[in-house]
Amino acid sequence: RRTGSGRAHGKAILLGEHAVVYGAPALAIPLPGLTVTATATRRPGTDRITFAMGDPPRTASSSRGFRALVAEFARWSGVDGLCADVVIDCAIPQGRGLGSSAACARAAVTALADLLGRRLDARAAFALVQASEKVAHGRASGIDALATGATAPLLFRAGTGRELPQASGGLFVVADSGVSGATRDAVELLRRRFERAPHARDTFVGQVTDLTDAAVRDFTRGRWSDFGARMTANHRLLREAGISTDRIDALVEAALAAGALGAKISGGGLGGCLIALADDPGRAETVANALSAAGAVRTWTVPAGGGTRHA
Ligand code: MEV
Repeated sequence: RRTGSGRAHGKAILLGEHAVVYGAPALAIPLPGLTVTATATRRPGTDRITFAMGDPPRTASSSRGFRALVAEFARWSGVDGLCADVVIDCAIPQGRGLGSSAACARAAVTALADLLGRRLDARAAFALVQASEKVAHGRASGIDALATGATAPLLFRAGTGRELPQASGGLFVVADSGVSGATRDAVELLRRRFERAPHARDTFVGQVTDLTDAAVRDFTRGRWSDFGARMTANHRLLREAGISTDRIDALVEAALAAGALGAKISGGGLGGCLIALADDPGRAETVANALSAAGAVRTWTVPAGGGTRHA
């Protein structure tokens, strides 16, 4: 083949980020409305795989994550010296905790496999994306590598994921604070903090584990007000751990004041996105409007049952 294509989508974490790096469970939803597509084209005469992103496309070949991806891809495919250009079109805002790095890696490696006429099964796709994520984020739990290819809400625990049955009634409003935060820095900040205070790590991981386990039961039974309260409790723990920002805290308060059942920072933190919960479309719209009025640059509404509506 002369060209190959691949795609993936964003994700939002509902509960459990950061604690998941230390073995706690975490819950994520796919954001199928935020897509990444990649096209790989054979380019004889070059001696390597190149990557380009953006509009107009600019080179991203020096990214450590992509370099790791190429090395793992050569091992998986048994093909050394493949010459190709990979162009990535990413609709996920970067540095916002929405899984852009994992989704770009997933779309790119799927396109490269397609170029060779090979299909990546779920296990191989996860392993390849995770190899790239580990380099990009330092200590990656694997939740982004999995959730960016998932088709249903995902409970991630101890390195593996279980898709949950679709729930009805709840609507998540994801809001971009407009400030990017590097997941790598946030993960490193906690690593250093917990190294000095292992007891604080154990308490954090234990409390988040209890919240997430209870939230999974609420999710599958549609007990949205209980689920929302657990989200807000998880936000407080993340804030105490130093992962939130004043701007995100203010947006969380704005969502709660507008009637959200719960709200919290989502993803890597130190900026990025927050996620709020509403129990009907009218309330979701009120919350989204309140978030925009409080300074969010973009919002997306995601039914717990799947799909993404852009607001
Ligand atoms: C990033 O989306 C989630 C973190 O928990 C890091 C990870 O699990 O790899 C912050």
